[in-house]
Amino acid sequence: MPAPADRAFGFRTRALHAGTPPDPATGARAQPIYMSSSFVFDSTEHAAELFALRTYGNIYTRIGNPTVAAFEEKMASLEGGLGGVATASGLSAQLTTILALAQAGDHLVATANLYGGTITQFAVTLKRMGIDVTFIAPNDIAALIRAIGPSTRAVYTETIGNPAGNVADLEALATAAHAHGVPLIVDNTFASPFLCRPIEWGADIVVASATKFIGGHGTAIGGIIVESGHFPWGSGRHPLLSTPSPGYHDMNFAETFGEFAFLMRARVEVLRDVGACLSPMNAFLFIQGLETLPFRMPAHVANARAVADFLASRAEVAWIAYAGLPGDPSYALAQKYLPDGAGSIFSFGLRGGRTAGAAFIEALELWSHLANVGDAKSLVIHPASTTHGQLSDADMTASGVRPEMIRVSVGLEDAADLIWDLDRALRRAATAVRA
Ligand SMILES: Cc1ncc(COP(=O)(O)O)c(C=O)c1O
Repeated sequence: MPAPADRAFGFRTRALHAGTPPDPATGARAQPIYMSSSFVFDSTEHAAELFALRTYGNIYTRIGNPTVAAFEEKMASLEGGLGGVATASGLSAQLTTILALAQAGDHLVATANLYGGTITQFAVTLKRMGIDVTFIAPNDIAALIRAIGPSTRAVYTETIGNPAGNVADLEALATAAHAHGVPLIVDNTFASPFLCRPIEWGADIVVASATKFIGGHGTAIGGIIVESGHFPWGSGRHPLLSTPSPGYHDMNFAETFGEFAFLMRARVEVLRDVGACLSPMNAFLFIQGLETLPFRMPAHVANARAVADFLASRAEVAWIAYAGLPGDPSYALAQKYLPDGAGSIFSFGLRGGRTAGAAFIEALELWSHLANVGDAKSLVIHPASTTHGQLSDADMTASGVRPEMIRVSVGLEDAADLIWDLDRALRRAATAVRA
């Protein structure tokens, strides 16, 4: 949806309209699902022009599809970026991003408070591929600067860390990364673009698991990459973008595509070769989810606050880590970067440790015990034995996971019903500990 020159549409309007005008072919008002693997060329000349990237258009759904493109355009608009590339999952959004920038012998710096799957992707899989990652304590700018070397291709963080809930100092991280010629990549999964737009604070690339709040209903796995359009890809810091690529008949992406260099390489080389593309059906589900994101997020935040206040008032609860609570170490950063709320995913610990935690989770009825977040339904999990279970004790501690930690993703039910269920489960847990 090209916004008129004299009007900047608001977030709700863009959530409904950006990227999804009435279908020019049929007039369909909802986004059609173009369930087609491939697209007919006008002529052999047209086919050759498309493959040579001299004309932009649909070729094959692994590298582009009209329904997927509509989702990409809506996400780019909501994150305030230049454009987007959608992928099969959040993890493949990360991998596609990194492989577009780095190769064997290269290096990344990442904050340690990341999703467990991201830590293993970085510390094990990327390492096997020859890409080294230095993990630093969250927001430790001095450590970040020390870690950046000549082969560092990016700095990586999460807006709100999973599951410790600490908020990234995006502006400070971006300033430090840029001072050393390196882009900042931010995983914005827990905030969603409704609560935080990292590009406004200097981030260069935003990645997210669309599986969570973007879809919003726990139905589909997917990922998204959005780029700001501000990073100087031709500076020489990213040879994959600024030297001839044997993967695309010696194309120099920075020279050919300017600010689109990263997105183009991510799509036409990495998506093409790795193949982790988003299905049109899932893109449709994410478009549906985005239409109500601006209404769901405030309701998630209000319920999270009610649940956090309830837990904080209970003697059975030893600690609670929610950046939305005054007194939390991330409260000030949340006020700055998440003024409309610190999301609805947070963690707490019970006084009875693991025994109490297990009894608590098993006693819950409304809350679903499963490995996901950002669903309309309320969810609960024990990270140390599940999402972060593959980490060493040291990595677990560095990522902010404590053995007794319980992570909740607060959904959209009546807050009073969620609290009723928590109250019952807390009593059961206390009984289990006494026994
Ligand atoms: C913060 C964060 N980033 C990325 C991912 C990976 O997303 P996906 O499961 O869609 O691959 C997750 C999954 O839980 C996550 O919590």
